[in-house]
Amino acid sequence: MKKKLYIKTYGCQMNVYDTERMVDVMAPEGYEETETPDDADLVVLNTCHIREKAAEKVYSDIGRIRKMKDAKKEKGDEMVLAVGGCVAQAEGAEIMKRAPIVDMVFGPQTYHNLPDMVNKSLELKSEGQKSRILDTDLAVDEKFDQLSKKEVKQKPTAFLTIQEGCDKFCTFCVVPYTRGSEFSRSIDDIMTDAKKLADAGVVEVTLLGQNVNAFHGTADDGSEWGLPQLIRELAKIDGFERIRYTTSHPHDMTDELLEVHGDLEECMPYLHLPVQAGSDRILKAMNRTHDSASYKKIIADLRKQRPDIALSGDFIVGFPGETEEDFEATMDLVREVKYAQAYSFKYSPRPGTPAAEMEDQVDEDVKSARLARLQALLKEQQTEFNNSVIGKTFPVLIEAKGKTEDTVFGRSPYMQAVQVKVGADKIEELLGKIVEVKIEDANAFNIQGVLV
Ligand code: SAH
Ligand code: SF4
Ligand code: F3S
Repeated sequence: MKKKLYIKTYGCQMNVYDTERMVDVMAPEGYEETETPDDADLVVLNTCHIREKAAEKVYSDIGRIRKMKDAKKEKGDEMVLAVGGCVAQAEGAEIMKRAPIVDMVFGPQTYHNLPDMVNKSLELKSEGQKSRILDTDLAVDEKFDQLSKKEVKQKPTAFLTIQEGCDKFCTFCVVPYTRGSEFSRSIDDIMTDAKKLADAGVVEVTLLGQNVNAFHGTADDGSEWGLPQLIRELAKIDGFERIRYTTSHPHDMTDELLEVHGDLEECMPYLHLPVQAGSDRILKAMNRTHDSASYKKIIADLRKQRPDIALSGDFIVGFPGETEEDFEATMDLVREVKYAQAYSFKYSPRPGTPAAEMEDQVDEDVKSARLARLQALLKEQQTEFNNSVIGKTFPVLIEAKGKTEDTVFGRSPYMQAVQVKVGADKIEELLGKIVEVKIEDANAFNIQGVLV
């Protein structure tokens, strides 16, 4: 009989990718994914440590799952509860202490060992022993070697991790500590995985990395490739019609990479380029290595290459020492750049990061008020951007069934979520296809169109 595996994914796309890989490594062990934890034989919480709220959520979820685990035990069955991901990496020992119900804790770089860990845990349990496993080693390459041998599932869009970790050490951020130092996969490994994806019918590939544009992979002949060269080679693979990459840092936005946006049809006109703040004083305290002028220059150069490019960003408000004037500089930058979409957060002090120790922490209510103002502006811009495509026709990649019986859901080249009216009988044949759609209506979050 198949065993059931439930994974809850928190945090970024990197974790989404890792979750898919965990499903892959557990499949040969007889585990099948299930939608709810109640009845699962193995529950994995793939956690995020980026802000306090995200990390605390894990403990409340453990509390909920504990009840399900107890209920299962009463019926004579075992549930293995595992905590993986970035909270596991950062506070593994604390989780073990605070939540005795957790059977195993493993970091983002050790999940290829999951089958062994699970079997070991079950073995110990059957011997009546207390089974607790902690594996938070940070050696990345072994994980990737193992994963490239696994089969891939067919979907029109796929993530492909090419780079992990970060050496930038922005003073607010935990990623360099949870994911470890920067590591680029080899060109050969990436190409092998990419061809598998194309063979499986993938049309759109999103290259992933915490610092994806810092990518520098070694090819078989010993030469080193940057992201621009990699994208150009990937675009030659039959079947790949769309290429995206995320997340980039302004520091590594080279001219060659900007040119790829101008040259390649396959390189989609959408870029997520976090700036974090508009004040140079704050950017310096954040250790971001760019200032607002150099960021705006990149955007201007990018628009020369690809005038229609849609931009997205990340913003932090209320970083230690942020004055009203500093915050206004962020608002000014947003007004100038104009974003199609964005993520914004209140600064959250993270244990072990330099900014958490800084004086002049900003009051919570000031942070909330600034965030509300920034988000209102960003929402206005997002609505404006979506409205600007009404009446236009562009290719939409159909990814899934839509909200109603006669619609499908897809993404525009600019990453907008599009609901397309097609008629119920057409849905199946359109899945995975790129079709021309004329946009008829839009709001802040959705746009609607019809086939042309
Ligand atoms: N590697 C990416 C993203 C890292 S995390 C980059 O460099 O841009 C995603 C986003 O979370 C960051 O861009 C930042 O805006 C936000 N973030 C990171 N640490 C934070 C903190 N301590 N408080 C609030 N937001 C934070
Ligand atoms: Fe975090 Fe900065 Fe690295 Fe991005 S570049 S992951 S924000 S340390
Ligand atoms: Fe969170 Fe780890 Fe991603 S901290 S944002 S899951 S890299």
